[in-house]
Amino acid sequence: SHTAITALLAGKVEAHTTVTVKGWIRTRRDSKAGISFLAVHDGSCFDPIQAVVPNSLNNYDEITRLTAGCSVEVTGVLVQSQGKGQSFEIQAETVNVVGWIDNPDTYPMSAKRHSIEYLREHAHLRPRTNMIGAVTRVRNCLAQAIHRFYNERGFVWISTPIITASDCEGAGEMFRVSTLDNENLPRTDKGNVDYSEDFFGKEAFLTVSGQLNGETYCSAMSNIYTFGPTFRAENSNTSRHLAEFWMVEPEVAFADLEDIAKLAEDMLKYVFKAVLDERRDDMEFFAQRVEKTAIERLENFVDKDFAQVDYTEAVEILKACGKKFEYDVEWGVDLQSEHERYLAEVHFNAPVVIKNYPKDIKAFYMRANEDGKTVAAMDVVAPGIGEIIGGAQREERLDVLDARLDEMGLDKEDYSWYRDLRKYGTVPHSGFGLGFERLVAYVTGMGNVRDVIAFPRTKGSATY
Ligand code: 4AD
Ligand code: MG
Repeated sequence: SHTAITALLAGKVEAHTTVTVKGWIRTRRDSKAGISFLAVHDGSCFDPIQAVVPNSLNNYDEITRLTAGCSVEVTGVLVQSQGKGQSFEIQAETVNVVGWIDNPDTYPMSAKRHSIEYLREHAHLRPRTNMIGAVTRVRNCLAQAIHRFYNERGFVWISTPIITASDCEGAGEMFRVSTLDNENLPRTDKGNVDYSEDFFGKEAFLTVSGQLNGETYCSAMSNIYTFGPTFRAENSNTSRHLAEFWMVEPEVAFADLEDIAKLAEDMLKYVFKAVLDERRDDMEFFAQRVEKTAIERLENFVDKDFAQVDYTEAVEILKACGKKFEYDVEWGVDLQSEHERYLAEVHFNAPVVIKNYPKDIKAFYMRANEDGKTVAAMDVVAPGIGEIIGGAQREERLDVLDARLDEMGLDKEDYSWYRDLRKYGTVPHSGFGLGFERLVAYVTGMGNVRDVIAFPRTKGSATY
């Protein structure tokens, strides 16, 4: 058996115990005095542990040929380190080489620094780098903290389907799912392929959001959330969009817009605190190498109340601010990333909840406000990234929902199950969706969602 390096470095094992670690060489340095220093990492924490290897070991020759990426098994005595910046090291008694690097000169992840674009092209090897290792641990920490947060509040986690016929957002950005036999395609009268037969004779797509399914369970379990993959066939090539991304979608019965704005704030603060407490090592790396303010801005976030502003007022602020935007702002337009970032970064210098958007730019399910022009929607916009959360109070009144479906040209038949929720014991309810990669990109400062998901799916990338 062996011990995770994080446990050794954190002092969870008593000094002078014999321990075994298994991992990969990060660096090797040989001293003239006949000692080789191996930095061994195993992914359990940012820092490697140092193994001090004396030339009295019978495979010392072999050890001095180890290069970055070789896998090893080291057994020895754990001792307090003399060296600066590390707590413990291992005085090696045996070092077994498990796997060599097949030609260190052409090993794509050699010890030098690689550009982020280069790493993206080597998605299968990039988890070995400091940077992607740190991203991966922080992502895991955030995911675990999200589950903890909801669990502590009595929310039930619902696994909503990935294959569905319903386009929650109505944006027409769904991927088709097909079981059709290419040799034997069903045809319409006009001779076109009949896609309505796609999924064993029915039409089906990959889900864009678990919300509508979540609402059905919220209408019985009170407080639920989903956490799963969602898909958007959007042809945009930006640092904030993926074709496949993970979303966290709480849905709360007997809750209005204020309630879920508060929930969003509490959740973000909770998970930021978790990262600050549990992943200092990785966050220090991000602060040093990626985003100077990475730690400080999370600390501020945890301490500060979010700003709240109505869409209408936000538009006034943007029109009056004197800054030249690429896209003009008028009441009625959807806010662009540049507008959101101006509000969060310059005007409020804090995360902002923007509320009550014009109904014409929002989905059918959002609750109509008294003014007849806006809906009870909210977006949470963070400095550095823009929109990370989108949510709303849902339209719980059947007559108003029906009128809205008609107005948008949507077929009530298609929504009969959704309308049932309003017919049978309807309640005011609200929820939101958190884009998980946008959250991870924000926390780490990585700036591009492609670098915070293991195998990013964007236009033209689905190799692995
Ligand atoms: O604003 P969106 O489209 O809202 C919904 O899907 C609602 N049904 C959520 C709900 O109320 N339950 O998406 C929610 C969030 C966005 O704020 C954004 O963070 C993220 O999902 N998102 C994306 N992230 C990465 N790549 C994409 N293509 C994304 N599209 C949305
Ligand atoms: Mg949105």
